[in-house]
Amino acid sequence: MHAEQLVSQLRQASPLISVGILSADLMCLGAQLELMEGAGVRLLHVDVMDGRFCPMMTVGPAFIKAMRTSLLKDVHLMVEEPLDKVESFAAAGADMITVHVESCRHIHRVLQLIGEMTNANDSSRGIVRGVALNPGSSLDAIRPVMDEVEMVLLLAVNPGWKGQKFIPAVGAKLRELVRTVRETGRRMLVGVDGGMTRDNVAEVARLGADVIVAGSAVFDGKAPVENARFLTAAAREAARA
Ligand code: DX5
Ligand code: ZN
Repeated sequence: MHAEQLVSQLRQASPLISVGILSADLMCLGAQLELMEGAGVRLLHVDVMDGRFCPMMTVGPAFIKAMRTSLLKDVHLMVEEPLDKVESFAAAGADMITVHVESCRHIHRVLQLIGEMTNANDSSRGIVRGVALNPGSSLDAIRPVMDEVEMVLLLAVNPGWKGQKFIPAVGAKLRELVRTVRETGRRMLVGVDGGMTRDNVAEVARLGADVIVAGSAVFDGKAPVENARFLTAAAREAARA
């Protein structure tokens, strides 16, 4: 099932903040989800780490399934060889599944496979396929799979930890990616993940990011709703300017 309609809806509403839910207070996850729904957030970013692709371990399909929310589940797989795992994330209700180009031998096949999967929340919706790129990887690595994705996600930190600093070189990479996507003429989303703050969100939006992942900038232990609203408004204003 194709995600074309979902992608164009997301593009129309972009730039969007995809909120990194693992930075929230997980002891009251339900309440935190409600706060994000009330703040006008559309996307919920879930960082899945397996302790192999990156040093930390986080959550899996059971956690994704357990989140009862109207928000779209944007699942970022930082796992080694995701081929035999993507099915369980789709079954758990992922609306977007992003895999790392560095994580597997058969990236093209993994993306093809996700493209054939049914969205468990709504079978007419399709699943947005994303390919992610570590800060140390070149854009050339994703060119051969551009026809098999609806989103390219640039990591602006090295995968593993929240609260890291945005790597400045990603700015130039983002500019080049936006140009490349335009040249393909395809309706795709461009995402940036990691190190986003109130201070750099406008610049990233201005450079053309459609999906901006923010974890600690939203869940700072103080004002998550205000933070989510601020980041969304700042990104929109910059993209319009
Ligand atoms: C990097 C993850 C990111 C990141 C987001 O390992 O993919 O999603 O932790 O967290 P902040 O916004 O705190 O950088
Ligand atoms: Zn992520």
